[in-house]
Amino acid sequence: MDMSQRTLALLKPDAVQRGLVGEILARYEAKGLAIVAMELRTIDAAQADAHYHEHVERDFYPPLRDFVTSGPLVSLVLEGDQAIEVVRGINGATDGRKAAPGTIRGDLSLSNRENLVHGSDSAESAEREIALWFPHL
Ligand code: RTP
Ligand code: MG
Repeated sequence: MDMSQRTLALLKPDAVQRGLVGEILARYEAKGLAIVAMELRTIDAAQADAHYHEHVERDFYPPLRDFVTSGPLVSLVLEGDQAIEVVRGINGATDGRKAAPGTIRGDLSLSNRENLVHGSDSAESAEREIALWFPHL
């Protein structure tokens, strides 16, 4: 059976601004995940709202929207065996201050908001997010 799975990842504006794109991509590639699409772009509020639709009513969303629209980010589709869970594991817990050492957030982020990366959290989210960010795929 083919176990290959696709997931949507974002290297958020803090990752680009801090010059950590290469460091983060290297971790995904070294794990064995394949990059099947990738783009550098600055998103508008509508794209942020669509991506974070489950969070738009939350208290933390207005500053999150300001952050994710503040500068260029890298969107990419990663593929590999159990890619959704594997990428979430490499990313680490949401809050960089609490994320385990060895994870991207645990090693490189000291923030609950500016936590460098996003990874789809389920097969349904991955399908929706890949269609949102890469409609040609
Ligand atoms: P992501 O969606 O970015 O992969 O992160 P996640 O699943 O680990 O976390 P989620 O709960 O989906 O939250 C989405 C993003 O919102 C920001 N956030 N800020 N209390 C806060 O200030 C707060 N909580 C979450 C983070 O940037 C988080 O990644
Ligand atoms: Mg999430």
